[in-house]
Amino acid sequence: MKTENNSFDESSDTRTVKDDVQANWERVVRRRSFLHGIGAAGAIAGAAALPAGTLFAQDNRLSKGDAAILRLAAAIEFIEADLWQQYNELGGQVDNNDNPNPGNPAYIAALQNLDGDMPQYISDNTDDEISHRKFLNAYLTSKGAQPVDFTKFETLQPSKAAGALGNGRLTNLQMLTVDTSWYFRYRSTQNPDLGAKFPQLLNIVKQTAIPLHNSYAPSTIQAIANIAGIHFAFIEQGGSSLYPILALKATSLEVLRILISIGGVEIDHFSLWHDKMGNAVAPPVAPLVDPVTGLTFPNFNDPASQHNTMLSPADQQAGSQMFQTNLIQPEPCQFISPDLPPCSIIRPTLSPNGGPMATVQAFIADGLFIGQNPAFLEQLMDLASEAEAARREAQN
Ligand SMILES: [Fe+2]
Ligand SMILES: [Fe+2]
Repeated sequence: MKTENNSFDESSDTRTVKDDVQANWERVVRRRSFLHGIGAAGAIAGAAALPAGTLFAQDNRLSKGDAAILRLAAAIEFIEADLWQQYNELGGQVDNNDNPNPGNPAYIAALQNLDGDMPQYISDNTDDEISHRKFLNAYLTSKGAQPVDFTKFETLQPSKAAGALGNGRLTNLQMLTVDTSWYFRYRSTQNPDLGAKFPQLLNIVKQTAIPLHNSYAPSTIQAIANIAGIHFAFIEQGGSSLYPILALKATSLEVLRILISIGGVEIDHFSLWHDKMGNAVAPPVAPLVDPVTGLTFPNFNDPASQHNTMLSPADQQAGSQMFQTNLIQPEPCQFISPDLPPCSIIRPTLSPNGGPMATVQAFIADGLFIGQNPAFLEQLMDLASEAEAARREAQN
C-alpha cells in the first residue's frame, strides 16, 4: 500500500517483514542439519564445537566452505552495489558508464555541505561495489561454483525524485533505521568481542536516506543527506568486520587473498565515510533539526552535547573522546584479552558479532529489505547460514 511520501505503508509492511524474517530464519535453521536441535543463537555461540566439514573439491575447485564464503560475499556485494547505485543516481558525480551524472541538484548540494567531493566519493564507492560483485561471481564461476544473482528480486519501487532511474530495486533506502552504535564502538576502549555494548548516537528510525520528490525544505533535504552520510558509514563498517571474519574461515590461500584484498577496500570506505558523516554532527551543518520529522543532529563537538546516559560507566568517563567528530581513526581497545595492552583494530572480528548471520540480521534491521519478497530473504539467510558454518581446513 502506498503513502504520499513513501513507497510502502510503514506499519503493515514492517510487521509483515518482521514476521517473514522470523519465519524464514526458523525455516533455514530447521533445514540445516548442522543446526539440528540447538537453534540459531545456540548454534552460533557453540560454533567452535561443530564438526569440521570434510567435503574437499579436487583439482581447481573450491572447498565447500570456501564456496559458501565467497557466495555470501557475492550476495553482500550484490546488495551493496544495488544500494550504492541508488545513491549514485541521485548524488553521484558520474553514471555507471562514467558519463556526467545530472543527479538530484538539491540532494547533491546538501551532500556537498558534508564535503565538496561527496559526489565523486559516492561514484567511486559505487564502482568498487559493482567490481566486487562482478569479480566474486566471475571467480566462483571460474571454479565451477554457483554465482549469486538477485536480479529477479529487483522489484522495489524507485524514488520519484529527479535523477532516479525508473527500474525496480533490490534494496529499500526509503525507510531506514540506521544503527549508529558503531560511532561509539570505534571511540571506546572496550570491545564488543569481549562483551561491550554501545548505545545509539542518534535515533534514525524509518527515515529516507534519498529524496523521494523534488520539493523539500532546505533543512529537510539536509537531514536526508545527513542520514545518507551516516548510512554510508554504517554499511561500510559492516563490511570492515565481515571480511576479516570470512578470512578467518578460508581454506585456500587464494580465497584468503581475495577476502583480505576486498576487505581492505571496505575498511578504506568506512574510514572515508566516518570522516564525512562527522560533518553532519559538527558545525556548520549541525546543530540541525528536521522540522518535518523532528530528527535532530546535535553538534557533538559542543561539550553540552557530549553525554549519553546509556554509555557504560567506563565510556561515560571517557567523555569527549566518545563524541569528538574528527576522531575518525579507531581508538585502541581491548583485544583478545583485557590483560593485553589496548590495540587499534577493526572490531568486531568474532562471527556472532559481525559474521554472515549477524550481517544479514543487521541489514534486515536496517530496513533495507522492507517490502522485499520473502523468497529473497530466505535465499539470503540460506547463504548466510552456509557461510556461518564454513571452517578453515588444512589444505591438501
Ligand atoms: Fe564491497
Ligand atoms: Fe562496501
